[in-house]
Amino acid sequence: MPSTRSIEVLATAADLFHAAAEEFIRAGRDAIGAQGRFTVALSGGSTPKALYSLLAASHAGFAWNRVFLFFGDERHVPPTDPDSNYRMVNESLLTKIAIPAENVFRVPAENPDATAAASDYEAQLRRFFELKPGEFPRFDLILLGLGPDGHTASLFPDSPALDEQSRLVVANWVAKFNAYRITFTFPVLNRAAEVMFLASGADKANMLHQVMEGKSTPPLPSQRVQPSDGKLLWLLDEAAAANLTP
Ligand code: 6PG
Repeated sequence: MPSTRSIEVLATAADLFHAAAEEFIRAGRDAIGAQGRFTVALSGGSTPKALYSLLAASHAGFAWNRVFLFFGDERHVPPTDPDSNYRMVNESLLTKIAIPAENVFRVPAENPDATAAASDYEAQLRRFFELKPGEFPRFDLILLGLGPDGHTASLFPDSPALDEQSRLVVANWVAKFNAYRITFTFPVLNRAAEVMFLASGADKANMLHQVMEGKSTPPLPSQRVQPSDGKLLWLLDEAAAANLTP
């Protein structure tokens, strides 16, 4: 599959999440039709919550028993913590759909040893995708967001995880948070069949312009997401796309 990058600008945030839900379901139907299962890595932060709620409200009847959910990154907190991406997804989606518990792969971020939590999660991915040493998983869909500094997942500018080329999941020390984050690495992101970025709101407009049209040295983490054999889709609302050249 040749790599493609497409940008879709929707009028409002509601239109953006509707388009994202449609794309999620379309990709899901294709993957289930082709392979009998749909493997997805979810993103955290605030933006995707509306998508997860919409999927629960409008697509409860989807074949969730064929969907396998992972997390592209997680904060180093227990699943009950208000900062937990798992908690956000659980409250907005998982508790409202008929997905088998064994189809949901949570990052064991309650482990006080962030490196051990990352290794554990990598082992879960290797088992699930039946990977041989040196092999990488190919997710059907990876959801990502855009941080104000150009980070995505928990791959922050000037952070150690940016250069990781062999591991799938690492504990990434983020100095500005004085904390670890557990995150997929670029090799995993760039082997996906499809990566879908969601960006909504005026506060994303400057960084989006920089990511889409700017030249940063080194490149911003979000600029380094280039699926080698897959689709890259940016779904934006007009407020977020306000500074892009028409
Ligand atoms: C996280 C995310 C992170 C997020 C961006 C955008 O755990 O925070 O995975 O990469 O996507 O920070 O966050 P907002 O959607 O809250 O703007």
